[in-house]
Amino acid sequence: MSEPQGGILPEPGGAAYFLVLAARDRRAEARAIAVQLSRVPEVTAELAASAGGSALRAVVSFGAELWGELSPTAKPRELEPFAPLGSGTLSVPATGGDVLLHVTSDRPDLAFELACRVRSALGDRVTVLDEVAGFCYLDGRDLTGFIDGTENPKGEERAAAALVGDEDAAFAGGSYVIAHRYVHDMARWDACPTAEQEGIIGRTKPDSVELDDEVKPSTAHISRVVIEEDGEELQIVRHSFPYGTTAEAVSSSSPTAARAPPSTRCWRACTAWAATASTIA
Ligand code: HEM
Repeated sequence: MSEPQGGILPEPGGAAYFLVLAARDRRAEARAIAVQLSRVPEVTAELAASAGGSALRAVVSFGAELWGELSPTAKPRELEPFAPLGSGTLSVPATGGDVLLHVTSDRPDLAFELACRVRSALGDRVTVLDEVAGFCYLDGRDLTGFIDGTENPKGEERAAAALVGDEDAAFAGGSYVIAHRYVHDMARWDACPTAEQEGIIGRTKPDSVELDDEVKPSTAHISRVVIEEDGEELQIVRHSFPYGTTAEAVSSSSPTAARAPPSTRCWRACTAWAATASTIA
């Protein structure tokens, strides 16, 4: 089994940087991009050491199309381009991207510095599709005010949930990644009474206690994300990071207050697929 990338299994810490990149020319540049990215573990270790051994971790993920250029014949079994879901206002679009760099640290400056070094090494072989700095909010809350991560797999359960195993032996130790970015309508959310919010999530707001089955709506978030396959509940490791600005996060009702559209954001990198960089080098 390959060694999992450094940022997959540990609890992520208080700061994150997400960088989504597109190759300018997949066919021509795939190998050069992969060679640069294979240095990420080394660059990460050097930077962490120069900062007194601070926690700094990175995950490099490849999109299915870029993987296809790098390795047309040997492909992780379930690696596919993300297929859009839903329709209308309830839709999840596929926004593309060939590389996701997901950095986590206790220090936002180090997370940013590592992202800069990786971006700089890739030069104009790539363009930036999206980048966001995320933070741990209060005692691990999403910007909705709810504690996020209560039921995240812990300890050894994390490896069982996040790593490819013997079912695809050539890629054992790798993972799949799905990265989502959400914008909340905070004015609408804040106008919703706490009891109603608790019904939407399925947990109490102050302390994340699961609502009793008699009161928990079947539409509650935590009811809907329980998915079983062959009688077994599927597990996922979530790395949720709030992000945003005060203008977006504060839903003021004052008519004189200058404000941006009411929105706060929440990045979620649900661990799904990321090849170990050394597989590619
Ligand atoms: C706007 C986006 C989302 C928000 C604000 C959100 C928030 C939350 C909150 C507050 C909890 C309860 C505490 C916990 O157990 O972590 C939770 C649970 C969970 N969420 Fe989400 N979530 C979002 C999207 C998603 C997505 C896209 C997935 C799947 C890929 C997901 C999967 C889960 C799972 C598996 C749980 C644990 C359920 C349980 O309690 O057994 N969530 N989420």
